Amino acid sequence: MTRRKKKVHVVVVGSTNFDLVVKAARLPKEGESMLASNLKFFPGGKGANQAVGAARLGARTTFIGAVGKDPLGDYLVRCLKGSGIDTAWVKRHPTHTTGCAFITVYPNGNNSIVVDPGANYTLQPRDIERAKNLIARADALATVLEIPLETVEAAIRLARKAGKFTVLDAGPPRGCPPEILKLPDIVSPNETELEELSGEKVSGRDSARHAAEKLLELGVRTVVLKLGGDGSMLVTAKGSTHFPAHKVEVVDPTAAGDAFTAALTVQLGAGFAIEDAIRYANVAGALATTRLGAQPSLPTRKEVEAFAARAAKLG
Ligand code: RIB
Repeated sequence: MTRRKKKVHVVVVGSTNFDLVVKAARLPKEGESMLASNLKFFPGGKGANQAVGAARLGARTTFIGAVGKDPLGDYLVRCLKGSGIDTAWVKRHPTHTTGCAFITVYPNGNNSIVVDPGANYTLQPRDIERAKNLIARADALATVLEIPLETVEAAIRLARKAGKFTVLDAGPPRGCPPEILKLPDIVSPNETELEELSGEKVSGRDSARHAAEKLLELGVRTVVLKLGGDGSMLVTAKGSTHFPAHKVEVVDPTAAGDAFTAALTVQLGAGFAIEDAIRYANVAGALATTRLGAQPSLPTRKEVEAFAARAAKLG
């Protein structure tokens, strides 16, 4: 792998949440009260996770988002700053509360997440418009579906107008019109997000490829699928390539997809070929599953490179 650009500047337009995480034996049934354990608090939110992920991989990173004027908002902004992220564009909403995510981790390593987006949904296209000069100076922009769709659209349009690389992480699962999906260079969903976007049932690699091809028919340029324990897949009009997952001891999958998107965006912003960027992102995603919590689990460049070197030696 040849490095093309030393210091990449990534802008992330997205959500930031306070994550409350518990361990439970299983999903509760409707109407049931059940016990959980091990309550922990973490800084999270898909956009903020991607910003922290990009910064840990060595990118100069700016986060554009919104939190409430409350102690949780103070805490999340402090966490972003602590990771060296430019937070000058984080809006403090006077009445909406900071976004919160309620996360349950199960013994098999899977999780489920319920999010109250709160202030995240106050991020408006005009908030992005104000940052247009900053976006014009950046190398790449990543955004997520945990903010209003019109804001996602405005961010991608602005970045593309300025000739920047754009990645839309399609999480959390929600419908998104083709007019938006066809804007970014890359749309990157996991399996549940892909089902939501394509309207197809996804179970396994073949059905995932088929559903991704549906997105191409809608005008999406390039799909990079996150397949969890089965790695990832690049799907373009030229065909598809599968990238196997790295075998790791999974502790908590939260933010693994964000680590993947952050790495993909940083590497593409640096000018790497998409296949190399996906291989690198696969390592970042795998490493993020080995630690509990969202932002604390995101790997550094040194960790990703050491893991990749070990994996290459083992063949
Ligand atoms: O992708 C993981 C994130 O999803 C969590 O940090 C949570 O906040 C939700 O946004």
